[in-house]
Amino acid sequence: MTQDPNARAQIEPTEVGANAAETGDRQLTAEGSPETPDAYGSHEISIQDLDFATLAEQGHTATKLDPLAPAVLSVDNLKMYFPVKSSGVVRRTIGHVQAVDGISFEVPKGGSLGLVGESGCGKSTTGRLITRLYKPTGGSMMFQGHDLAKLSSREMKPLRRDVQMIFQDPYTSLNPRHTVGTIVGAALEVHKIVPKNKVLPRVQELLEIVGLNPEHYNRYPNEFSGGQRQRIGIARALTLNPKVLVADEPVSALDVSIQAQVVNLLQDIQTEFDVSFLFIAHDLAIVRHFCPEVAVMYLGKIVEIGDRETIYGRPHHPYTQALLSAVPDVKQAAIGGRRERIRLEGDVPSPINPPSGCRFRTRCQFAQEICAKVEPPLLQIGPRHKAACHFAGELGSHPATPVTTQLLGVDDQGSPVAGATPTNTQLTIPGYEETWYDLKTKQTTGG
Ligand SMILES: Nc1ncnc2c1ncn2[C@@H]1O[C@H](COP(=O)(O)OP(=O)(O)OP(=O)(O)O)[C@@H](O)[C@H]1O
Ligand code: SF4
Ligand SMILES: [Mg+2]
Repeated sequence: MTQDPNARAQIEPTEVGANAAETGDRQLTAEGSPETPDAYGSHEISIQDLDFATLAEQGHTATKLDPLAPAVLSVDNLKMYFPVKSSGVVRRTIGHVQAVDGISFEVPKGGSLGLVGESGCGKSTTGRLITRLYKPTGGSMMFQGHDLAKLSSREMKPLRRDVQMIFQDPYTSLNPRHTVGTIVGAALEVHKIVPKNKVLPRVQELLEIVGLNPEHYNRYPNEFSGGQRQRIGIARALTLNPKVLVADEPVSALDVSIQAQVVNLLQDIQTEFDVSFLFIAHDLAIVRHFCPEVAVMYLGKIVEIGDRETIYGRPHHPYTQALLSAVPDVKQAAIGGRRERIRLEGDVPSPINPPSGCRFRTRCQFAQEICAKVEPPLLQIGPRHKAACHFAGELGSHPATPVTTQLLGVDDQGSPVAGATPTNTQLTIPGYEETWYDLKTKQTTGG
């Protein structure tokens, strides 16, 4: 096909799972707009000069990594391709939006994995796949011995309570015509968790847990401020005692002074409920505070994943390095250090027709011939560190020749080497091996 599918394509509305209505992306009327004065606005204490690193040191400590924690959710080679249809009477599929294309990761029990990346890289789609608002095109999502990717809507029903979502926008994710009591209590009734006469006391208990006045269960969402509404969303997500919470940009719609309070609340909830988080955000400072482990996405792929110290301190992928260079680092500035800003040229390519080989190559300053020919595998290069780059290395120390050739059985230009046996079969497992590929010696090594 020579025709550009973008030109007159229409993106097919997607299959949305059975509980879309109950989790609710609903439209609010004008009265629910952020400008509306409300009953709670003045009760929110504003934290001036917010800096999450300082906040962490002042007692609300960032969650620690437990390297021995088992995985509560294991995602392997997960894909979501949205069909693109031609216009006209007979609407044929003329391409696919490769929103998520073969990602693998684990969410540790009681831990939080952060998912970061530019707009449109597939973060929300990943969250919606895990909560099965979308049925994946391929891959697996193992949770308590079940592959969530393969279950029918009916088979999913008992598991939906275990994997819940907190949405980005507290203004649109709550039905303005329902009282807080109805919103928070709905799932209790649907899943028959408690007898009918116990629903209200449980709702009030949950409101108290998230810092709301339990007596305000009969108020409507527009009577609350943004931060308070997000607390309602959190209470709703907690109703069924979930094991995994997908928080999709949970604080980015909030005023900066309220963000810290909601993040602190999520931390308290994590400890109290022993819940694991997939925490989606574009604010790298908040992710550093909340998540001991971080995955960086670019155009539907995970390009780097690892523990917080490694990703923030010694990133090896040029995209992560560019993203981090844009974050003002308060601590570094205090000791006189300044990170040089790396400017990314050009736009993010279309996920309908992504670049061959490495998807980042059209914007990467280190790209060479091999990058267009061969896709770099997400290679484990440290005890808890993986990067997908033929020239993976610390900023200023990227190797001159590709580090992946002998694993992939190709030469430095990416052409197959006759007789070479690729040994890359184990390179994209969801978690971490006890051995990894040492970039200096190009040998497998162990801790
Ligand atoms: N329902 C859908 N149908 C078709 N394409 C979709 C659908 N949802 C998302 N996409 C496309 O998939 C890609 C990934 O979108 P997604 O919303 O997951 O990105 P994101 O990383 O969450 O971005 P943002 O930071 O802006 O929220 C985008 O190109 C988007 O246009
Ligand atoms: S594989 Fe090549 S294009 Fe991709 S990030 Fe590495 S150097 Fe850049
Ligand atoms: Mg999103």
